[in-house]
Amino acid sequence: MKQSINPFVTELKESATLAINQKVITLKKEGSLIFHFGFGQSPFPVPSSIQKALQENTDKKDYLPTQGLPELCDAVSKFYSTEFRYDYDSDKVCIGPGSKELIFQIIYLLEGPLLIPSPSWVSYGPQASIRGKETVRIPTKRANHYRLQADELDQTCRRLGKKQKILIFNNPSNPTGSSHTEEEIRELAEICRSNEVIVICDEIYALINFSRHRHFGLAEYYPEGTIVTGGLSKSFSAGGYRLGVALFPKAMDLVLSSLKTLISETFSAVSTPIQYAALAAYGSYSSLKEEVEKCTSIHQFAGEYLHQRFIKMGLNCPKPEGAFYLFPDFENFCSALQAKGVETSSQLSELILDQSHVAVLPASDFYMPPSHLGVRVASVDYNGAKVLEEFPGKKNMDFQKTEELFPKLVKGCDHLESFLKNL
Ligand SMILES: Cc1ncc(COP(=O)(O)O)c(C=O)c1O
Repeated sequence: MKQSINPFVTELKESATLAINQKVITLKKEGSLIFHFGFGQSPFPVPSSIQKALQENTDKKDYLPTQGLPELCDAVSKFYSTEFRYDYDSDKVCIGPGSKELIFQIIYLLEGPLLIPSPSWVSYGPQASIRGKETVRIPTKRANHYRLQADELDQTCRRLGKKQKILIFNNPSNPTGSSHTEEEIRELAEICRSNEVIVICDEIYALINFSRHRHFGLAEYYPEGTIVTGGLSKSFSAGGYRLGVALFPKAMDLVLSSLKTLISETFSAVSTPIQYAALAAYGSYSSLKEEVEKCTSIHQFAGEYLHQRFIKMGLNCPKPEGAFYLFPDFENFCSALQAKGVETSSQLSELILDQSHVAVLPASDFYMPPSHLGVRVASVDYNGAKVLEEFPGKKNMDFQKTEELFPKLVKGCDHLESFLKNL
C-alpha cells in the first residue's frame, strides 16, 4: 500500500543519542568491549522512597486532570520556590510525560522562530522542524565555555526584528556541562526583556550543579517571560518513569490554557501512579536532598576526572560545572586527523568508536558546524549503585579507588590517549 508521510517528519533522522546507543548495544552483543561515553542517563538507582510511593499507588487508576495531580503541582511550585527562589503558583504548574514532550508541545503552540544557542541539546531543532518552524542558531564561543552571552542574543534579536521569538535556554548545559553565572543571567534577562523574548528554560539539570556559585536561573531575573521545565529524569535518576514538569509565569495564561487543550487532545494526563511517585520526590525533597547531593558530588568527580585526562591528552575542553557532560574538541590534532581523511565531527566519532571503542556523539548533532572537530562525552559509564554506596568523597579518592569505582572511565581515557598518540 502506498504510504504518504508528513514531509516534516520524513526529513528528520533518528535522534543521534538513541542511534549511538543502539549501535553500542549491537557492538556489545557481538562481544566488543565498549566505553559508552555517548548516552547520558543517570547511572544511580531511583531513590527508594520514590520507588515505594510507586508501589503503594498502583491501585490509583482514575484519570487525573490534564494539568496534573493538584498535590503534585503544589509540591512542584514549593520545591522551585525553596530550592531556586522561583515564584510560580501551583495552578501554573503542568505535569507531562517527560520534559521532552512538554518542551515539544510548548514549541508546537508558540508562533515565531526558535532561537537555539549552538551548541545545544539534540532534540530542540527536530522538535521545531516537526511543526515546520524556523530555527535560528546563535553561535557561542569556546572562550566563554560555550555559554550564551547577552550581546550574542541581542544581535540575533535585532536581526529578527519585532516578531515573537522563542529562546530555548538549557542551563546547566547538555552538551557542554557549563552553567551560567549570576551576572550572565542578569545580562541575558535584560536583553530578553527589551526584546520581549519568550524563554523556555530547560533546567532538567538544575540540581546537578557543581560550579563555584549556586544555580542561577532566568526565572529569577526575568520571571514574566520565562517558562521553566524540569523533571524526574536526571537528579532523581528516573528517566524511564517519564515525568516532567513545566512552570508558567502569571502573564502567560494563554500559553498554559493552550497547552492544557493540546494535552487533552493528545496524552490526556500522565500515569496516575507515576504522579504519586513524583509527589514523593518533590513533596519530600528535604529527605532526599542528601542522596541527590551525593549523586551530584559523584557526577562532579567523574566530570573533573575526565576533564583532567582530556587536558593532559591535548584536547581543548571547558571544565564541567554541572550536568554529566563534557564537550572536548580535537583542534590540536587537526592535521593528523585530516591526514586520515577526517574532515567532520561525525567522521571523527566514527573513527574514535572504530579504533578505540569509545562511543561519543559528534558535535554536529548539537548544532555545531560539521567542520568543528568536537564531540560530546557523557561521564556516566559506571555502576551507579556500587559507586553511590562506596564513594568516599572527592578528597579521599586516589588513583586506585578511581580505577576500582570508575574502571570504564579510566580505561576509556587510556584507549583515547593511545588513539591520539598513534595518529
Ligand atoms: C537537555 C535536556 N533536556 C531535556 C531532556 C529530556 O528529559 P525528560 O524528557 O526525560 O524529562 C534531556 C534528556 O536527555 C536533556 O538532556
